[in-house]
Amino acid sequence: MDVSRPTAARMYDHLLGGRFNHPSDREAVAELLKIAPSTKELALNNRAFLVRVVETIARDFGIRQFVDFGSGLPTQDNVHQVAQRVDRGCRVVYVDNDPHVHAYGRLLLDENPRVALIKADMTDTEGVFGHRHFRDLINLAEPTAALFVSVVHCLTDQQDPFGMIQRTVAKLPAGSAVVVCQLVSDDEVVRDAVTQLMCDGTGGHWGRVRTEADVRAYFDIDRLRIEKPGLVDVTYWRPDRDVFPRQRTLEWIEFGGVARVV
Ligand SMILES: C[S@@+](CC[C@H](N)C(=O)[O-])C[C@H]1O[C@@H](n2cnc3c(N)ncnc32)[C@H](O)[C@@H]1O
Repeated sequence: MDVSRPTAARMYDHLLGGRFNHPSDREAVAELLKIAPSTKELALNNRAFLVRVVETIARDFGIRQFVDFGSGLPTQDNVHQVAQRVDRGCRVVYVDNDPHVHAYGRLLLDENPRVALIKADMTDTEGVFGHRHFRDLINLAEPTAALFVSVVHCLTDQQDPFGMIQRTVAKLPAGSAVVVCQLVSDDEVVRDAVTQLMCDGTGGHWGRVRTEADVRAYFDIDRLRIEKPGLVDVTYWRPDRDVFPRQRTLEWIEFGGVARVV
């Protein structure tokens, strides 16, 4: 594994205060904070959103199986821990293409028979849904949650993020849930500068910062009905407490929401 270059997974781990990162990741985060000083608060609020969303899907929607696309490195309150607090029977498949996530992700599994980690590209819908571990845990006759949390900005336009979401939705039965959010900015200068920094740093393993309109377009699929409060800065998606830490500046935000499949 090459640790001389930063990766999205390890930079995000550093922003969350995790242990699975290297000097190259910490240096890249320091550069990023010069352009977008609110990024640490943004990352913490994104993670809090992920926890609220999984709780809501398990508790209020009654869904018991989750596929977490671009799951990232193990941290506190991973999807299976949150979902299994609601019901120990919840099943979770994690999907990531970063070898580091796999090396450390075994910690995630915790010898938990209802959890699996698949090394795959999330755009390879057939490969993910056809994977042995996926088929062992996920019964597509039952509603399933597909999570694309803070991952779509890792894809270029050529990788066709909309096509990936559309193919995934096509595989899910009615009653399923789809969560999508990504980094957006109103400011073209920020969009270009951060995209450049991340693409150069990761050797091209990144996509781009987009606009709120781009994220709205991801949900423009016939079978999707967006849940309240709609598509928002995810910090304000059904907050369960005062927002802390608040983003002091809003040069970019994590924007998206949750839809049900009809
Ligand atoms: C910013 S982290 C998000 C982690 C987690 N979803 C969260 O919101 O806390 C993005 C993750 O997406 C993964 N990723 C990026 N492109 C991917 C791809 N094409 N297929 C699978 N995983 C990918 C990265 O390796 C990284 O772990």
